[in-house]
Amino acid sequence: MVLIGPPGAGKGTQAARLAAHYRIPHISTGDMLRMEVRQETPIGLQVRDRLAAGLLVPDALMLGMVEHRLLQKDAKQGFILDGFPRSPYQAEALQRLLERIQRPLMAVVQLIVPDQEIVVRLSYRRCCSLCGKTYHLMYNQPQREGYCDIDQAPLVQRDDDREDAIRTRLQVYHQQTEPVVDYYRRTPLLREVHALGDVPSISLHIQNLLKGAAA
Ligand code: AP5
Repeated sequence: MVLIGPPGAGKGTQAARLAAHYRIPHISTGDMLRMEVRQETPIGLQVRDRLAAGLLVPDALMLGMVEHRLLQKDAKQGFILDGFPRSPYQAEALQRLLERIQRPLMAVVQLIVPDQEIVVRLSYRRCCSLCGKTYHLMYNQPQREGYCDIDQAPLVQRDDDREDAIRTRLQVYHQQTEPVVDYYRRTPLLREVHALGDVPSISLHIQNLLKGAAA
């Protein structure tokens, strides 16, 4: 399945829960790119500035990474794609790829959250510097202030959670990614979810919607 929605809509939060529930991998293109940046690989060095500015990275690069990941063994029983596709071009390329590997999509879940809430969610988000687990300074606080519950590593703010980058990411979403929702609206796959409210209730709602998804 694909999870789609604006920056900070809760895609990563929900994908992690759904992945645990369905026992399939959570594949986040943002996490994959941030890992490349952290490890200072050639890809990481190439995309670092675009990520920090909130701009999309080149399609060819992203498509190669996604294809490589989807072909790995753990994705054979299914996968949750978070952050991909992000443009109609990527949606069409994904369609071709999935046809080629004979793995049709079962559902596309759109998380709907107003822009004002996005700004609050992203400005107060903090992430573990080691495992990447996400917290929120108001809604989802760590047990010990400033440190991850899982590995006690310090929490940090993502470079693209600065005010100017958040504005750019929202603009990019409305201009380049919303047309992907229109693309899937023309198929029977799209499920719309109003993603305000507590995290477990939203997960449950998504699971209920997925019960009707075609196998
Ligand atoms: P990516 O990592 O995909 O960023 P994004 O889409 O901007 O989404 P986020 O990870 O910021 O938010 P989220 O929706 O996962 O929300 P979260 O669960 O953390 O991409 C980053 C960059 O990589 C892009 O800008 C681009 O440069 C590049 N990139 C990635 N994919 C690409 C592609 N396909 N093509 C080209 N470039 C690509 O939640 C946010 C906060 O809200 C957290 O603090 C959380 O605790 C809190 N929260 C979650 N749910 C709730 C709730 N229900 N109520 C209250 N708070 C909540």
